[in-house]
Parts: sequence; C-alpha cells; structure tokens
Amino acid sequence: MKLVIGVVRPEKANDVLEALFRANIRGVSMTKVQGHGGEMQRVETYRGTTVQMGLSEKIRFEIAVSDQYVDDTVNAVSEGGRTGDVGDGKIFVLPLDSVVRVRTGETDDAAVTPVV
Ligand SMILES: Nc1ncnc2c1ncn2[C@@H]1O[C@H](COP(=O)(O)OP(=O)(O)OP(=O)(O)O)[C@@H](O)[C@H]1O
Ligand SMILES: [Mg+2]
Repeated sequence: MKLVIGVVRPEKANDVLEALFRANIRGVSMTKVQGHGGEMQRVETYRGTTVQMGLSEKIRFEIAVSDQYVDDTVNAVSEGGRTGDVGDGKIFVLPLDSVVRVRTGETDDAAVTPVV
C-alpha cells in the first residue's frame, strides 16, 4: 500500500477529484495548505531589494491505495492538476504500513478500498 500526497492549485482541485473518480479511486482527503515551490518574490525595502520566500495557497490531497492503484492515482492527480505553468504542484508517494476501517475492523487492502 502507498500513501499518495498531491499538492495542487486550488482551481484544479475539482479536476483532480473528477480524474480520481474516473479512475475508480474513491477514498480521499483534502486540506487547504500554504506552500512554497521555489519561486522568489522581490520585496523593496528602504535599504534595497531583499528576496523573500512567498507562500501560495494549495490543496493537499491524501489518497491511500493498494499497490495496483498507485499509477492510476498518480496519473489522475498529475493530469487533473496540470496547467503547464510553474507552480502546478507536486506528488509524493510514501510507503503505507497499515490501514484500519473503523466500522468493521478490516485491515490493509480490505480496508483501503471504499465499499461501493
Ligand atoms: N520539496 C517539497 N516538499 C514539500 N512540499 C513541496 C515541495 N515542493 C513543492 N511543494 C509543495 O507543492 C507546492 C507547489 O510547488 P511547485 O509546483 O512550485 O513545485 P516545483 O517543483 O517548484 O514545480 P514548478 O517548477 O512547476 O514550480 C508548493 O507550494 C508546496 O506546497
Ligand atoms: Mg515552483
């Protein structure tokens, strides 16, 4: 199992959700985050120009999937989130040790896929 974390532009969040739905990926969490992706802002001060790390609002998806769904999940976030401009976001794939469905006590692959 893997935990796929995708950070994308807020205006692309619905496209990511749609792409996940089309790929039959159902369990997903989203949070608003502030992030920095390398772009530097120039700020004028009376002493001269200083460079500041700017923060921009992003949406962070967390999607726990069994191994067979990892590629589809990454593709859905990547294609749904892309505009082609800098700042489109990033995807991280982490190993996931265990998952428990609270209602039934099911674990791991049986728990990671939502019951449809
Ligand atoms: N190395 C990182 N670690 C954690 N979060 C990151 C990292 N890089 C980017 N992010 C998150 O992703 C958001 C978008 O990053 P961004 O798209 O600018 O990445 P990038 O690698 O600089 O790509 P681009 O060249 O398209 O700008 C950031 O605001 C931040 O929330
Ligand atoms: Mg960047």
